[in-house]
Amino acid sequence: MSLIAIENLCAGYGEIGVLFDVSMRVEAGEVVSIIGANGAGKSSLLKALSGLIRPSSGKITFNGEDITKLPADEIVGRGLIHVPEGRRLFSLMTVFENLEMGAFSKRAQKDFKKNLEDVHNLFPRLKEREKQLAGTLSGGEQQMVAIGRGVSSPIK
Ligand SMILES: Nc1ncnc2c1ncn2[C@@H]1O[C@H](COP(=O)(O)OP(=O)(O)O)[C@@H](O)[C@H]1O
Ligand SMILES: [Mg+2]
Repeated sequence: MSLIAIENLCAGYGEIGVLFDVSMRVEAGEVVSIIGANGAGKSSLLKALSGLIRPSSGKITFNGEDITKLPADEIVGRGLIHVPEGRRLFSLMTVFENLEMGAFSKRAQKDFKKNLEDVHNLFPRLKEREKQLAGTLSGGEQQMVAIGRGVSSPIK
């Protein structure tokens, strides 16, 4: 069973189709890159996976479960995390608070302490800057927070 399986996915914005018949699989432990020109639909594919845009047809399964019609919060709650392009941090909140927001779902809250340790091992700078407002970090440090916020939520 694949970790993520996308079958014949079509999606877009209103009348405008962007994804046509996309099929792909991601196995556990695998790193998969999607490469394409500007506007090709890479971000839209990730948005469809995260429930931010609704597929018009096709199927997405995660860990064997059909998530095609689930709302975004339910998808996050199952451990499928989207680290957005452009960081999208809460700039007036501290580094710690941003990481805490990554573990917003009930199931993720339970594992937050352990996941926070993983984040700090990955990016020791974030432990040093725990109390600093995210908006005052350098660009690279903000990117660490965006990735760290994603790593704050895996469900063990
Ligand atoms: N919110 C939106 N409303 C309407 N069209 C959009 C929206 N977001 C993206 N698009 C369009 O969908 C297409 C794919 O965009 P996108 O998935 O962001 O491409 P990529 O990430 O590969 O650069 C583009 O033509 C873009 O203009
Ligand atoms: Mg994009």
